[in-house]
Formats: sequence, C-alpha cells, structure tokens
Amino acid sequence: MSKEKLPVVVLISGRGSNLQAIIDDAENADCPFEVSAVISNRPGVAGLERAQRANISTRIVDHKSHANRESFDAALIENIDAYQPGLVVLAGFMRVLTADFVKHYEERLINIHPSLLPEFPGLDTHQRAIDSGAREHGASVHFVSCALDSGPLIVQARVPLETGDDAETLAARVLEQEHRILPRAIRWFAEGRLAIESDGEAERVMLDGNPAL
Ligand code: GAR
Repeated sequence: MSKEKLPVVVLISGRGSNLQAIIDDAENADCPFEVSAVISNRPGVAGLERAQRANISTRIVDHKSHANRESFDAALIENIDAYQPGLVVLAGFMRVLTADFVKHYEERLINIHPSLLPEFPGLDTHQRAIDSGAREHGASVHFVSCALDSGPLIVQARVPLETGDDAETLAARVLEQEHRILPRAIRWFAEGRLAIESDGEAERVMLDGNPAL
C-alpha cells in the first residue's frame, strides 16, 4: 500500500522555474509530497501555465485588488486553506507577508531565497554579491519568520564567483542550485525529518536530530 503524500501549496509571482523543479520531483513515484495547488499574486505569469500543464489547480489572488496587506493576506489564507496543505512553499513569491500570515503557517511555511542568508535579503542579490567582492554566493531554503527573507535555515547551496561574472551569469548558476535544494528541503519536511529547536534566543533547524547546517 502506498503511503499518503504530504499536500503542498506553492505560492509564486512569476516565471515559476522553482515551481517546475518541485513539480518534476513530485512526479517521481517515491516522492513523499504532492502539489495540491499553485497560487499566484499576479495573473498571466508563466508559473501558472506550468501548473496547468501538470494538471495542478491554480488560483490567482491579485494583490492589486486589495486595499492593504491585511486584506490580501486574509484572502491568501482563505485560498490556501481550501487545500488543507501540510506545507506552504514560497517559490519566487515576491510579497512581504504580515505577521498574522506567518503565524498562521508557523513551522509549515518555507521560502527559497537567492543568497547565502543572512547575507543579502531583499532584491538584486546577485549584483549586490558581486559588488561586495564576495568570493561565493548561493541560495538558501528557510522556515519563514516575520522579517523579510529571514528564519531558521534548512539548506544552503554555495556557488563560487567566477572572473567575469555578471548578475545574469551568476543568477543562472545559483538558479541551478535552487532547483536542487528546494525539492530536497520539501522532501525532508514531508518525511518528518526536520524540527526547529530554540535555545531561548536563536532558533535552528535539526535534520534527523542533528543541526541541518
Ligand atoms: C528565484 O531566484 C527565487 O529564489 C527568488 O525569485 C526567483 C524566482 O524564480 N526569490 C526571492 O528573491 C524571494 N525573496 P522562479 O519564479 O523561476 O522560481
């Protein structure tokens, strides 16, 4: 008898290449999760087409039809919870979320970000890494806490900077790594291998009982 797969809702804002990596992994018979729905805050984006091609339900919750963040996030919660997900994945979802939203999905909300957090939260991470003179850059998957692009780290991939790199060449190499680490983190979560431990000050992610990073 096959085990039940963890239902996952993926939130996107655009291209959806990370979503594609998740969809591709979910197609493997041994995958412990399934994508129940994809929700975009922008209509007409390529990520929605990717979901439709894979016969996954899609919804649009357009931030432009909401007067404020509270109302947008409440609508988002209603649409996500219709699918009763065990995990919500922000895969290129480019909206700042309210504390109420983050609290609602506490310990079951993860994000991918194109930098070695806590370095370079926010936008333009690749150019900022180049400008900083850093020798390496990368990507992080983390549980989401209230501040932008922050929360306990699950997995990171490091990418060395190469001579002549510009933001585009660097972004392409980082993106390859994103596509590798995001499905991996979702699998770990679905397999029940992740836990968040707190020592009163800092939180850290444990994988199979050992520090994940
Ligand atoms: C990805 O690089 C993702 O890490 C980034 O947006 C891109 C979306 O690409 N997310 C953030 O910057 C979140 N702060 P995709 O739509 O092709 O997956």
